[in-house]
Amino acid sequence: MNDDKVKSLKVRRSSRLTGFYQESPDRRRARLVESRWLAPEDAKACEGLAGFDESCADVMVENVIGLHGLPLAVALNFVVNGEDRLVPMAVEEPSIVAAASYAARLCSEGGGFTVVADPPITTAQVQLLDVPSLTTAVRELRARAPELLAEANALMPGMCARGGGARELEVRLLDSSTLVVHLHVDTCDAMGANLVNSLAEDLAPRLAELSGGRAGLRILTNLADRRKVKVRARVPSGALSSERFRDGGAVRDAILEAQRFAELDVYRAVTHNKGVMNGVDAVLVACGNDWRAVEAGAHAYAAREGTYRPLTSWWKGPEGELCGELELPLATSTVGGAARTHPGVQRALKLAGVTGAVDLAGLAAAAGLATNLSALKALSTDGIQKGHMSLHARRVAAEAGASGELVEIIAERLSRERVYRPERARELLAAEVARRKGGWR
Ligand code: MEV
Repeated sequence: MNDDKVKSLKVRRSSRLTGFYQESPDRRRARLVESRWLAPEDAKACEGLAGFDESCADVMVENVIGLHGLPLAVALNFVVNGEDRLVPMAVEEPSIVAAASYAARLCSEGGGFTVVADPPITTAQVQLLDVPSLTTAVRELRARAPELLAEANALMPGMCARGGGARELEVRLLDSSTLVVHLHVDTCDAMGANLVNSLAEDLAPRLAELSGGRAGLRILTNLADRRKVKVRARVPSGALSSERFRDGGAVRDAILEAQRFAELDVYRAVTHNKGVMNGVDAVLVACGNDWRAVEAGAHAYAAREGTYRPLTSWWKGPEGELCGELELPLATSTVGGAARTHPGVQRALKLAGVTGAVDLAGLAAAAGLATNLSALKALSTDGIQKGHMSLHARRVAAEAGASGELVEIIAERLSRERVYRPERARELLAAEVARRKGGWR
C-alpha cells in the first residue's frame, strides 16, 4: 500500500458535509480540501479534465478525435464497515448522486453499510468440442487439475508474486459432446480479463488434448459469481418519516410492498435493478472500470434461478427497522487500464480512499443499495417526479443566473407554479432582486 493510501486511512473525516449541494463546484472543492478529503493540488486538478488530454485518450481507444466529459460528483454520508467514505460518481442522469447521498444518510442512522466480499476471482472458460467420451475426458481433466493449475501459475509469475494465481479447475458438461473448463484465478487488484484470456488461450491446446476433442472459445465469463459482494444496511423506521409521511413504519411497509412488486413481476424487477445499477455504474465509471462487464454479470445473476429477480431484498427487522441487502458479482480493478492511463480515475480512487479492487467493489455495491433504497422510498411515497422536478427547478434557477440562497427561492417558486421555463426563472429572479433592492413595494 502506498503512503497516500495509508495516510488517507488514518485521517478521521466525516462524509456528512452539510449544505454541500447548495455550493458552487469551486466552493465544494475548497470544502473537500478543508475537510481533508482532497489534497489542494488534486482539488485544482478536478477543474475541467486536468491531466486527461488527447495523448491519454489516444492510447486508450482507437480513432480518437477528441475528449468526452461527464460530471464528476461525490455522494456524501456513506459509512462503510464503520468508516466514513466519499463516493465518487460520474453520471449523466440528474438525481442519482442526491439519491445515493440521501439514502446513505438514512442508512447511517442504522450504523451504515456492512460489506462482505469474495476474493477477486476471475474465471476463464475453455470450450471443448467433439469430445469422444465425456466420462473419460472429465476424469482425465479432473485428475490432471493440480498439474494444469501449476502450468497456469507458471504462465503468470508476476500475479503469483503479488499473492494471486490459479485457484481451481472446474469441468462442466454442456451437451453430449461438449465440455467447458473453468479456470478460476485470483487476480488481486486487477479485473484480470486480459490475464485470464491469455491463460485460456495458452492452456487450450493441452485441455483439448486431454479431452480428446478440440478447443473452441477461450474467454473469461462476465458472470463473475466467485467474485460477489454482499452489502447490508438497516434504517430505523423513525428515520423514514417526513413531514408528509409522519409514520415511518407505514413508509417501511410501503417500501416492502414495492419490494414484493419486484419479486412478483419481471417488468418491475428490471426497473428495480436499473435503480440499483444507477449507483453501481456511476461509481464504476468515475473509477474507470468496465461497467458493461458488471452490468452483464449482474443481470445474469439476477436470473440465476431461471426467473429474473430483484438484486436487492428488503425486510422488516426485529426492532421494526427496515433491513436491506444487495448481492451481486462485481469484478473491479484498481490497477491497469484506465487506473493507469487516466489521471481523473486516479484522483477518484484517491478521493474515495480505495485500498484495492475488493474495497472498490464494496463501495460500488453500497452505492447500489443506496440508490435502490432512495428510489423505493420515493416511489412508494411522494412519487419519483417530486424530487426530480425540484432538482430540475434548482438547475433552471441556477442557469437563469440565481446564486446562493436565491437558487432555492427561485426553484421553490418554479416548483409551486409547476413552470420550469428559463424565461420564467429569469422573470422571478429579476423580480426578487428588484424587491431586495427596495424597488418593489
Ligand atoms: C430511474 O433512473 C431509476 C428508477 O426507475 C428505479 C426504480 O424504479 O426503482 C427510479
